[in-house]
Amino acid sequence: MPQAVISGTGLYRPPHVITNAELVEAFNAYATAQNEKNAEAIARGEVAAMTMSSVEFIEKASGIKQRYVIEKAGVLDPARMYPRFEERPDDQLSLMAEIAVDASRQALAAAGRTGADIDAVYCSAANMQRAYPAMAVEIQAALGAGGYGFDMNVACSSATFAIEQAVNAVRAGSSKCVLVVNPEITSAHLEWRDRDCHFIFGDVCTATLVESADTAVAAEQWEVLGTKCATQFSNAIRNNFGFMNRAEDSDPLARDKTFRQEGRKVFKEVVPLAAAHIEQHLREMGFEPTQMRRFWLHQANLGMNQLILKKLVGAEPGGDLAPLVLDTFANTASAGSIIAFHEHRADLKPGDLGVVCSFGAGYSIGSVIVRRR
Ligand SMILES: CC(C)(COP(=O)(O)OP(=O)(O)OC[C@H]1O[C@@H](n2cnc3c(N)ncnc32)[C@H](O)[C@@H]1OP(=O)(O)O)[C@@H](O)C(=O)NCCC(=O)NCCS
Repeated sequence: MPQAVISGTGLYRPPHVITNAELVEAFNAYATAQNEKNAEAIARGEVAAMTMSSVEFIEKASGIKQRYVIEKAGVLDPARMYPRFEERPDDQLSLMAEIAVDASRQALAAAGRTGADIDAVYCSAANMQRAYPAMAVEIQAALGAGGYGFDMNVACSSATFAIEQAVNAVRAGSSKCVLVVNPEITSAHLEWRDRDCHFIFGDVCTATLVESADTAVAAEQWEVLGTKCATQFSNAIRNNFGFMNRAEDSDPLARDKTFRQEGRKVFKEVVPLAAAHIEQHLREMGFEPTQMRRFWLHQANLGMNQLILKKLVGAEPGGDLAPLVLDTFANTASAGSIIAFHEHRADLKPGDLGVVCSFGAGYSIGSVIVRRR
């Protein structure tokens, strides 16, 4: 069976930054305006007054300091509070494909490959821009790739689950060079008007090239020793937007058609699940957590990552063992652990081991154990 390697990664970083201070200023202006508009109903006790957000809460509760977004003005406009994207004609590259192509070209360059070398494209993200044709097929065409493409969605675990599919395809011999790409335009499905979650997400796109070790030409290669995926149904993170909304006569702009979660519940339930998953996966592969040189963890919450690491290796997590990117990128859904892997692996030496692990809605947990060649 051919061995699979990760031969390159790429990262599209959006052009705009929103700091917590800018975000809170916009939110509080929106909340104040809402309270003024509803003053009489609030006085009658019919409507609850909106409470202000705070930079201190956001940083303390999450570790997030800023986020990147593709469009900033709409998000920060208190009269709008979501991004403003222009609808593109069908014959123009779609926005999601555009950022996917950018990240993918970087991954190809790192791997010493061109689009023509790709024989499968998996576009895997927490949301797709449209129902069909599959985003992956548009990306495949834009890159001049061969083979086939398909979309998949396992929310925050979309990237690791797609890497498992890519590794399996390479090992089975059906593909030699698979592109996994994760365009996460989270700004379009985040509820920026809800103080409990308005600070959580940022936009980004990551790409990972998975190849057969027999034919890979990259100077830097990461052997994939094993992958493990797990799901367990939960409604604690949910978004009801979908093609049935019209037929159900439900309001397509209602609160449940954007991201919502019970944050504290997610925190409490997912930390033990993720720690046990990683530990079990490592043991199945004959490793101890302390043998890992690095943990590239999902980037949702600083406290979650600290607890997971403490359960695994008993140590206070330092930046070196489990690097953080959520302070600058915020939660980027499936891309978070891949950004960490992309930005924080150059110092590892041949033979060094590490784990990429995602966790999130579903619940879903995916881990990928790698060794630098
Ligand atoms: C979302 C999250 C950061 C919230 O942190 P938390 O400590 O659980 O905070 P809570 O929601 O319990 O809120 C604590 C208090 O702060 C308040 N609060 C919430 N948002 C606030 C804001 N933006 N500004 C100020 N105060 C805020 C709450 O109203 C609550 O007040 P109360 O105690 O008077 O009721 C945290 O739960 C988390 O990250 N969970 C995991 C989420 C996750 O991984 N999701 C996956 C997404 S893909």
